[in-house]
Amino acid sequence: MKKQERKRVARVKRRGLLERSADADLRVFVTRPIAEPPLRRLAAIARVDLWDDEMPPPRAELLARARPANGVLSMVTDRFDAAAIRALPGLRVISNLAVGVDNIDLAAATRAGVAVGHTPGILTETTADLAFGLLMAAARRIAEGDRYIRGGRWRTWGPKVMLGRDVHGTTLGIIGWGAIGQAMARRAVGFGMRVVYFPGRSATRSLRGARARAAGAGSSKAEPRSLHRLLAESDFVSLHVPLTTATYHMIGAAELAAMKRTAILVNTARGAIVDSQALAVALRAGRLAGAGLDVTDPEPIGTDDPLLELPNVVITPHIGSASHATRLRMAELAVDNLIDVFEGRRPRHCANPAVRMR
Ligand code: DGY
Repeated sequence: MKKQERKRVARVKRRGLLERSADADLRVFVTRPIAEPPLRRLAAIARVDLWDDEMPPPRAELLARARPANGVLSMVTDRFDAAAIRALPGLRVISNLAVGVDNIDLAAATRAGVAVGHTPGILTETTADLAFGLLMAAARRIAEGDRYIRGGRWRTWGPKVMLGRDVHGTTLGIIGWGAIGQAMARRAVGFGMRVVYFPGRSATRSLRGARARAAGAGSSKAEPRSLHRLLAESDFVSLHVPLTTATYHMIGAAELAAMKRTAILVNTARGAIVDSQALAVALRAGRLAGAGLDVTDPEPIGTDDPLLELPNVVITPHIGSASHATRLRMAELAVDNLIDVFEGRRPRHCANPAVRMR
């Protein structure tokens, strides 16, 4: 069956599936097609309005479709700021298909009694896989080598052709010592790297506490560092903090200047944690060896963005959690979070636990 035809059949099937639920009192707006098993589970308890398109609903459409809904199953591309939340007085829950919730004004949701669900844990290993893949790709010039061959430039094996940087025996600095940061550390240890970490902006006060926790966990030999020391010491720096007002542009010109000229920056967290103009300047000037980016600011990155002109940058389109198995688990959990609220509980993974639900 051709791709178009397969898409048409899937659409017809989905329509049938959603129509069968048409009597339910509860209404949920799902802002993008998700896997069918969780969609079916949702359709068994609620009337589902599905935005059946690859592109996100424009804001006016998002608000119009969410207005009659009790719950929204949202994506990182759907912005729920204070004005949007005020415009949706019937909404009880926003269930984000992501661990990050920077697209949602959590304080406004909490004030309005709207619970916010998210999907931590189940995407940890998948995201760390990609982060380590970007580290390897940037260090060993994998994407660049692929372009080199496809561009017809490979003429012979040569002792100086496509030299990159060793990964084994080097130091990885991890910024953000949450689940994904620690999963990255486990991979690094397996590759013979030394690991240092900075707990993240929210934990700056407590390096001593972090030291004690790392030793107690005994899970890795990672050592905590101040941010400045980590930047100065690391051959690779990988970002694993959420985007908040405190972490916005946390890596700017000064931080990039503190890194080794031979270092590589990896970002699978959120684009705006890095000042991307400063990054492009540092890379172009040879003050940093390379970058592996799964996230950019803005997304999608502009086709004329200076980062795209630099051969030592590897970029993927925000696919950290994008494996078949993980996206299915995320959709299941996003549905669980919705059902929790409809059954009178907080979402099992609630990003605003202080909420007093409507
Ligand atoms: C997340 O979970 O926050 C990712 O960025 C989206 O997969």
